[in-house]
Amino acid sequence: MKLDVVFSPLGLLPGQAAGRTIFVIDILRASTVICAALHHGARAVLPASTTEEALRLSQTIGGPDVLLCGEQGGLPIPGFALGNSPLEMSPDAVRGRTLVMTTTNGTPALLATQGAAAVYVAAAANLTVAVACAQDALDARGELVILCAGRERAFALDDAYAAGRLLAAVLGSGRKRKGLNDAALASLDLVRRYGTAWDVPLRASRGGSDLAALGFDADIADAARQDAYPVLPMYHERRITAAPAPASLL
Ligand code: MLT
Repeated sequence: MKLDVVFSPLGLLPGQAAGRTIFVIDILRASTVICAALHHGARAVLPASTTEEALRLSQTIGGPDVLLCGEQGGLPIPGFALGNSPLEMSPDAVRGRTLVMTTTNGTPALLATQGAAAVYVAAAANLTVAVACAQDALDARGELVILCAGRERAFALDDAYAAGRLLAAVLGSGRKRKGLNDAALASLDLVRRYGTAWDVPLRASRGGSDLAALGFDADIADAARQDAYPVLPMYHERRITAAPAPASLL
């Protein structure tokens, strides 16, 4: 078994993604937003690395069903239809739509997974579904990477804690530690420190306190709602769509 947590996309060495199964986490807020959008009927989410790329992509695709969403410095981007709040991803706003999304850390993390065998998006919002999918992947391939989007390409407490929660649930009560890298061991230690109340580490993190200062406290509360958006976002050929639920959950 080989189970790696990577605390930021910069820690994903060239070639390390190749052929691996990767779960990308940006709990505050990109991965929560993606879960909310797909759960509420968005057709797809297309990650873009910059505002300019998002604009180009939306023009290339064209049509009334394409919506731009995301943030810069945590705030909605002028001219974009939606920001980066899970609470904006209502069925009325997103059903049947294709979202072109750019965010500071989440979309670059997704784009860093090039070459992976399979890429999924995880958050508290889809924990049970993500755990079932991760267990299947581990059974089938004996390996897994959990990639934290982090903050400005560095460690972020909120994502590392979420990685620990995913990992702890995948490992179950046996908690075999063989095959875990040091970041995986550290993320499990964060779960021991903070327990199971998601909002505590989310609010303690720098990302959380910045969001609260910008007035997005409700987004933190939403990101802390376990299994609020039970969907399995799968990233393939630059599109994130809802994959079928893992067989073990049916
Ligand atoms: C990110 O991608 O950095 C986040 O989603 C930031 C945010 O939500 O403000």
